[in-house]
Amino acid sequence: MKAISASILSADFRRLEDEIIKVQEAGVDYIHIDVMDGVFVPNITIGPMIVKAVKKVAEIPLDVHLMIVNPDRFIDTFVDSGSDILTVHAEASVHLHRTITYIKGKGIKAGVSLNPTTSLDLLEYILDELFMVVVMTVNPGFEAQPFIPSMLRKIERLRKMIDSRGLDTKIEVDGGIGIGNIREVADAGADIFVTGSSLFYSQDYRETVRAMKAKISSKD
Ligand code: DX5
Ligand code: ZN
Repeated sequence: MKAISASILSADFRRLEDEIIKVQEAGVDYIHIDVMDGVFVPNITIGPMIVKAVKKVAEIPLDVHLMIVNPDRFIDTFVDSGSDILTVHAEASVHLHRTITYIKGKGIKAGVSLNPTTSLDLLEYILDELFMVVVMTVNPGFEAQPFIPSMLRKIERLRKMIDSRGLDTKIEVDGGIGIGNIREVADAGADIFVTGSSLFYSQDYRETVRAMKAKISSKD
């Protein structure tokens, strides 16, 4: 089943509760929360307090994307804040296997994210352990950036890797996804589509989600 994860980085933070309720009602499957530390990426965004507040409103799972160096320091904090899926960057984690094992030991789902130029080879010995791999389709740090076209090949290769091992690991794509390219990205093999600016900057969330879902579910 294909799914949509709404990135609140593009939401109107003055009305965050309303925004979450509205995208939920529009039919998204996850709330994507981008945590940035100003070191791993050139931006500072959301911390555990906001995750905790979102948890009180959200009725769907929280998909928390940590773009922070040495994420081990904060796993407990983000688990306690209500994360349902916790994703760390392979580039930011020295002992990735330990980190993933630790997250799963806390009873939640674990993901690994790869920057655009990071090789899929890094997944060789961890793929079997993951709920999902997040393929960054922009350089992380900001919303509303253009999709990097060569990432289609990366998604296709990852799809083959997962299928050839008979795994159920999901491929999440993050960055620059919109109605105009979601079908192509789905055809490359992605399962979960993060959408920030193309959803929150649209006039009618329900219609945008409907249009995206129609594109990823249609067969022709
Ligand atoms: C980028 C973030 C993304 C981003 C998505 O660093 O991880 O989740 O905010 O926003 P759009 O859909 O606008 O590219
Ligand atoms: Zn993200």
